[in-house]
Amino acid sequence: MANRIITYGTFDMFHIGHLELLKRVKSYGNELIVAISTDEFNDIKGKKTIIPYEQRAKIVEAIRYVDKVIPEYSWEQKIQDIKKYDIDLFIMGDDWKGKFDFLKKYCEVLYLPRTEGISSTELKNTLKTISSINIKELNHAFEILKRIKENLE
Ligand code: CTP
Repeated sequence: MANRIITYGTFDMFHIGHLELLKRVKSYGNELIVAISTDEFNDIKGKKTIIPYEQRAKIVEAIRYVDKVIPEYSWEQKIQDIKKYDIDLFIMGDDWKGKFDFLKKYCEVLYLPRTEGISSTELKNTLKTISSINIKELNHAFEILKRIKENLE
């Protein structure tokens, strides 16, 4: 069992996949530090979040499996974080499989399977679909009102 674990992520629109991951990660050790991508770092990654950093950090901090939240502001900070927080296990979802093997010089590295069928991107796409349906319905209602008005004139 590891003493201190670290994991990284954006955790936008916190969902069951995030919760399951944090629960499983915590089961590997005593203390879990979660590094959350700041809005500025997401800009660099070309990722736009719906929920701002401060709120994403507060939500993750409130999860019982999480002991500490720190900001993730660059790709390069991982080695520094591992040394600073005396990390012995680095865990990520397996969408990152192999990408962080270079950290094996500093601590153990593990990739866990993702929960299927959910992601922040999918949730955002669902919102987009809903709002485009709403716009279509509003346009349709507007057309009907216009015709009624024309008939009254
Ligand atoms: N994760 C997971 N299962 C999911 C979604 C995410 O295990 N269904 C894990 C990721 O592998 C990562 C952590 O949760 O280790 C944070 O992931 P993040 O990228 O913030 O969440 P996603 O929902 O994957 O967001 P996006 O669609 O923007 O990539």
